Amino acid sequence: MENLQLRSFADYKKAYKKSITDPEAFWDEIATTFKWQKKWDSTLEWDFEKPEVKWFKGGKLNITENCLDRHLETLGNKTAIIWEPNDPDEESRYITYRQLFVKVSHFANVLKNNGIKKGDKVCLYMPMIPELAIAMLACARIGAVHSIVFAGFSSSAIARRINDSNCKMLVTANEVYRGAKKVNLKEMCDKALEETPGIETVIVYRRTVEPTPMKEGRDKFWFDELQKAEKECPAEVMDAEDLLFILYTSGSTGKPKGMVHTVGGYMVGTTYTFQNVFQLEKDDVYWCTADIGWITGHSYIIYGPLASGATTVMFEGIPSYPDYGRFWDIVDKLKVTHFYTAPTAIRSLAKQPLNFVESHDLSSLKVLGSVGEPINEEAWHWYNDNIGKGNCPVVDTWWQTETGAIMISPLAGITPTRPTFATLPLPGVQPALMDDQGEEIPNTSEPVEGRLAIKFPWPSIARTIYGDHQRYKEVYFSTFKNKYFTGDGAYRDATGNYRITGRVDDIVIVSGHNLGTAAIENAIDEHEHVVESAVVGFPHEVKGNALYAYVILYNKVEPSEELEKEIKNIVSQTLGPIAKPEKIQFVSGLPKTRSGKIMRRILRKIASNDTENLGDTSTLLNPEVVEEIKSGALN
Ligand code: PRX
Repeated sequence: MENLQLRSFADYKKAYKKSITDPEAFWDEIATTFKWQKKWDSTLEWDFEKPEVKWFKGGKLNITENCLDRHLETLGNKTAIIWEPNDPDEESRYITYRQLFVKVSHFANVLKNNGIKKGDKVCLYMPMIPELAIAMLACARIGAVHSIVFAGFSSSAIARRINDSNCKMLVTANEVYRGAKKVNLKEMCDKALEETPGIETVIVYRRTVEPTPMKEGRDKFWFDELQKAEKECPAEVMDAEDLLFILYTSGSTGKPKGMVHTVGGYMVGTTYTFQNVFQLEKDDVYWCTADIGWITGHSYIIYGPLASGATTVMFEGIPSYPDYGRFWDIVDKLKVTHFYTAPTAIRSLAKQPLNFVESHDLSSLKVLGSVGEPINEEAWHWYNDNIGKGNCPVVDTWWQTETGAIMISPLAGITPTRPTFATLPLPGVQPALMDDQGEEIPNTSEPVEGRLAIKFPWPSIARTIYGDHQRYKEVYFSTFKNKYFTGDGAYRDATGNYRITGRVDDIVIVSGHNLGTAAIENAIDEHEHVVESAVVGFPHEVKGNALYAYVILYNKVEPSEELEKEIKNIVSQTLGPIAKPEKIQFVSGLPKTRSGKIMRRILRKIASNDTENLGDTSTLLNPEVVEEIKSGALN
């Protein structure tokens, strides 16, 4: 494929300038390097008031032809995916571009044989095995829309997501290995399936040999279905604006938001950013440690790397198994050149003795990446010094499920880096910092802080929230006129470099996972003894943030450790273990404004043990409750 890489800081500045002065010509030129069955009629149509964004309208393509077919001639024998199993004694799998092409086409026919057509929604609830990549690409091949649900989510979370997007099929595995544990995914699915009348077929990949209960007529084994399917599958002709996938993210109400990404713009955006941020060379081995169940895995394990003809590593396991040297063992073994992970992982590994790092040869590494949450100075230096040995640029990449692709980040080896700074916007990205009055803070050489918005569309912006365009408008386009609001706060230094300071809304990022406090409160409130609850984040040494729940119990119910456990369990069962509060404090009331709104600002301060200066409390209806909560605050 043609190379989209900028090579110098001067190139970057030139490209950035062009992307602002003539965005259409800029993206036109980039998009032309992909394989299209028909060229688009218009590059961009947009209106943030409606809101509506269309890129490459009228263009016809299939993203799998760009990720697979077009590489066959020149890269057919190149490794596309290296799969590293949970257990280091199990063999790694190397899958070439040609093999991946065959596997995807073959499984695409399984989907078709089971009644899946263009536009149908397919839920994938799978571990980090190559079959997940194969299933997602197979959906894209025939124009079905994949909705991947992270395999750590609970049954009710799966059911909710399946029903929200009317999925007709579920693809899963019988069991998954996670460190020393084995988790029965099929059992989770069976429970979810009691509440999902729309699912007609369940395809089950056997990851382990354990017997798997199957429901006659509905459940089918992956391998049995392959036996019945043809091997060749032509790519469905898709419009650039047809749906590629739905991916759920938390919102500040209890209901998750199904972000919708479309084929053309997403492909162009993820590929362009992948090549420019990471600056891969021909034989590099790139490893992003995220799970494919999150946007980072979609964009930077699968679509961006494969569209670029790169070798991408998929890891099934966890960083601490069989010991805390596992990541470094894999880097050494596979000679990884590009390593992309989350600050939470870095912090937890930095707490371990250095010999876990030093016993491995990390000299293959060229570039390090960070994503998902702000990286603190200490973690940045540990990563830079001990993993990169001071020789690898660290790219701190800021972006979101909604943005589809990296928005603010250094280009490796090109943009000067600065610890804790995501630095500069990528070409095509026009950030704005907004003040408390909702006005844009002018871009002068003063350091400033504000809420981060984006002024102009970029190709991979999510087009809507599935089934709820009104909510899309309210959440992202109603805070500031004619701008996309990110929900994040940011600081900009005198030279225009950005540092993301964190969420300014009711979302807490725990270990890089985006959690809406409303959904957790709803789960807690399900407990028969709970009247009301409020959940906030507080700083945590390893996880970045952890959750602190304030809980009001019914009269006569005594707080107890048992009750705490039950509440934590309820959250775990409803949303998954990642949403479990770290601390629970039983209180008699919550600080509320006269209009009944919980003053989370105060609760956040108390949870962080910063009770000296609670700010303005004059609008509180019940100031006495603050004293009570303070006196019970954990140290
Ligand atoms: O708060 C920002 C934080 O993660 C949020 C997006 O979460 P999600 O949609 O799950 O996507 C995560 C992976 C792209 C953002 O609103 N965030 C993401 N990257 C960074 C970050 N915060 C600071 N620095 C980053 N590099």
